[in-house]
Amino acid sequence: MKILLTGGAGFIGSHTCVELCEAGHEPVIVDNYINSCEEAVRRVEQIVGHPVPHYEADVRDAEAMHRIFSENEFDCVVHFAGLKAVGESVAQPLRYYRNNLDSTLTLCEVMQAHGVKRIVFSSSATVYGNQPVVPYREDMPSIGCTNPYGWTKFMIEKILEGQCNADPEWSVVLLRYFNPIGAHSSGLIGEDPAGIPNNLMPYIAKVAVGELEKLSVFGNDYPTPDGTGVRDYIHVTDLARGHVKACDFASGRTGCEIINLGTGHGYSVLDLVNTFQAVNGVKIPYVITSRRPGDIAENYADPSKAKELLGWTAEKTLEDMCRDTYRFQRQNPKGYHGA
Ligand code: NAD
Ligand code: UD1
Repeated sequence: MKILLTGGAGFIGSHTCVELCEAGHEPVIVDNYINSCEEAVRRVEQIVGHPVPHYEADVRDAEAMHRIFSENEFDCVVHFAGLKAVGESVAQPLRYYRNNLDSTLTLCEVMQAHGVKRIVFSSSATVYGNQPVVPYREDMPSIGCTNPYGWTKFMIEKILEGQCNADPEWSVVLLRYFNPIGAHSSGLIGEDPAGIPNNLMPYIAKVAVGELEKLSVFGNDYPTPDGTGVRDYIHVTDLARGHVKACDFASGRTGCEIINLGTGHGYSVLDLVNTFQAVNGVKIPYVITSRRPGDIAENYADPSKAKELLGWTAEKTLEDMCRDTYRFQRQNPKGYHGA
């Protein structure tokens, strides 16, 4: 299939591009490089051994998108493009709503105009809100999001669901990711956050190479086995494989389906620190600090629907995630910009 990847130069998009190529598909990337760079695409090309068509454009630019759709006959779209930093979305809500919603609306209008009606969307476990029970299942009603970023995901799910109801030829897969970490086993592509990372694994990686002094563990008084927060960390390559399955699934049906992509296992902050130290033979100095506002004790996925509908399960271990993250960090100490 010929598949458009919006935001395909980003962390998850670049890994998905590799997996799609390896499964025999023809991905085409559109990205405005607001949170990525063309070097990531060059690295993908190096891994797959052939050029990957890519356009520099903003998905909100209808004219550019019409041109891209006129030049290609797409079977399906995977919509990664969006801004994703939770804290930044609290400080700049309008920018987040404008970018994430407008890009989706423009994309859907262009798709409709060109008769492309299959879309896989990057949603997030954040849409569930802070549920009192685990694991999170797709049939749990959302109890509201805690930040504008989360609300954009919630609203986009509704937009796509509405489009499916309005036109029964549409096929929509809403993938709710848990916590993607890790990097491609080649060490060529990985997560390259700008500035000081907010998320746990990128922070640990920078402590590991001495760029940051020590990790702050946000609270050790949660009702979890070691008192630190528990999350469902998933290797980005497993996540990427989930997208290949989701594209296949979307092409054989119509309607809208919400599917969790997680491992179903929760690991604590200290599990991550200890595993990272053990597999990589490095020390991660840390201090226990107070809880981060808005954080919950634990969440993890019930991944059974993904297994049932997509035939997909996560295969990589926490050890793999820690090893691959460190390899990318060591090979690219300044991220893609050092290349
Ligand atoms: P990323 O920032 O690395 O990738 C997003 C890409 O979209 C970037 O390359 C960016 O330049 C591009 N982009 C943003 N706005 C655009 C626009 N208007 N036009 C064209 N390109 C645009 O993020 P990621 O981690 O790869 O996440 C991909 C998607 O998955 C995002 O929608 C994100 O919200 C969602 N998601 C990510 C996580 C996570 O932890 N990484 C978790 C849940 C959901
Ligand atoms: C965060 C986002 C969520 C997004 C997800 C993507 C917030 C509040 N939530 O989830 O919307 O979908 O990323 O991966 O930002 N921790 C530390 N020290 C750190 C950083 C984190 O102890 O320096 C702890 C946190 O308290 C938490 C765990 O590590 O228990 C994971 O945190 P993080 O990587 O930021 O992810 P989430 O908060 O789960």
